[in-house]
Amino acid sequence: MSNTAQYDVESIRRDFPILHTQVRGKPLVYLDNAASAQRPSQVIDAVRRLYESQYANVHRGVHHLSQESSRLYEDARVAVRGFVHAACVHEIIFTRGATESINLVAQCYARPRLQQGDEILITHMEHHSNIVPWQIVCQQTGAELRVVPINDRGELELERYHEMLSEKTRLVSVVHVSNALGTVNPVAEIIAAAHAKGVPVLVDGAQAVPHLPVDVQKLGCDFYVFSGHKVYGPTGIGVLYGKEKLLKEMPPYQGGGDMILSVTFEKTTYNTLPYKFEAGTPNIAGVIGLGAAIDYVQKIGLGSIAAHEHGLLEYATTRLRQIDGLRIIGEASQKAGLVSFVLDRVHPHDIGTLLDAEGVAIRTGHHCAQPVMERFKVPATARASFAMYNTFEEIDVLAEAIVKTMGMFS
Ligand code: ALA
Repeated sequence: MSNTAQYDVESIRRDFPILHTQVRGKPLVYLDNAASAQRPSQVIDAVRRLYESQYANVHRGVHHLSQESSRLYEDARVAVRGFVHAACVHEIIFTRGATESINLVAQCYARPRLQQGDEILITHMEHHSNIVPWQIVCQQTGAELRVVPINDRGELELERYHEMLSEKTRLVSVVHVSNALGTVNPVAEIIAAAHAKGVPVLVDGAQAVPHLPVDVQKLGCDFYVFSGHKVYGPTGIGVLYGKEKLLKEMPPYQGGGDMILSVTFEKTTYNTLPYKFEAGTPNIAGVIGLGAAIDYVQKIGLGSIAAHEHGLLEYATTRLRQIDGLRIIGEASQKAGLVSFVLDRVHPHDIGTLLDAEGVAIRTGHHCAQPVMERFKVPATARASFAMYNTFEEIDVLAEAIVKTMGMFS
């Protein structure tokens, strides 16, 4: 069934201990990767090794362990730079996750620049984390949040985007891959159009980096954000990429240790990039685990992962379309990583519970994207989301479990 014969999914699966567990007496079929992916032994081992033999605080000690932790921490930054192809390492800021990265840009880039009459442009398919920080900054400044509509297939209405992009627009913030629909947005086109009007662009890449190669320099985006836990790394760690010029102009997000060069009661001089934005003892294990996750993904290759997952997506779409009473929500021509669906007569939460009884883990609900649910007039969807380690056989298990579920409600 796979059109990526050389891709050794069984060997990849062997690296992920949790995939060999059973759930409710059935082999686990983990299809909730858009919520959070699983970790390979390489990541678990890197974190364990750190705590067993390498750990101390970073950037603060001359002793051996502090030097070792600091080296590993900065090596991870180098890995992230290579992963997204940033021009330099100090454009990579470690945060708690994509959410914190967006809040940082909202408060430190947008807030000082916004005033009444200005506009922030987002889209109707954004996750709440790319809506609420902009609502907050609009309340703080009197600026207005404007929303580019999406069509019935779940694609951005690009003509409307071009019309809505105006001399009032101060920032465009757009999701790369929708977590609720799977739509891959034409971010290069979106960025080029914004830049033609002098408007900077933030791209929310939380659902993109596990599935597609990303090159921030080729895209030309001003900010790019993602979370570690969706790309096989630890939770509580994320990345903000920002162009050096913009990051330099921005005030710090939080004050504290490590983000300063000198402090007196009269005056504080802030540290250089990237440390200006990393106040306090950082998530050292999270950063080092993320570095290991990125090394792992790079070794397999995002091109190969994307091809394998595309095969899974096509196969799942075909199989699910054959099920009477199942409707796929989100049928964009460019999709990645997931299928959202609803069933006649069965609430998504019941689907999730009954699939769980078969060992199949999916997410059900509004996926932190309530405006998308409202757009498609559904209270919630069931969502199967794929990762590099999923198999075609697992899609078969999913499809059979859905058919069984529907049988119980007929
Ligand atoms: N944003 C995550 C999801 O889509 C949690 O499930």
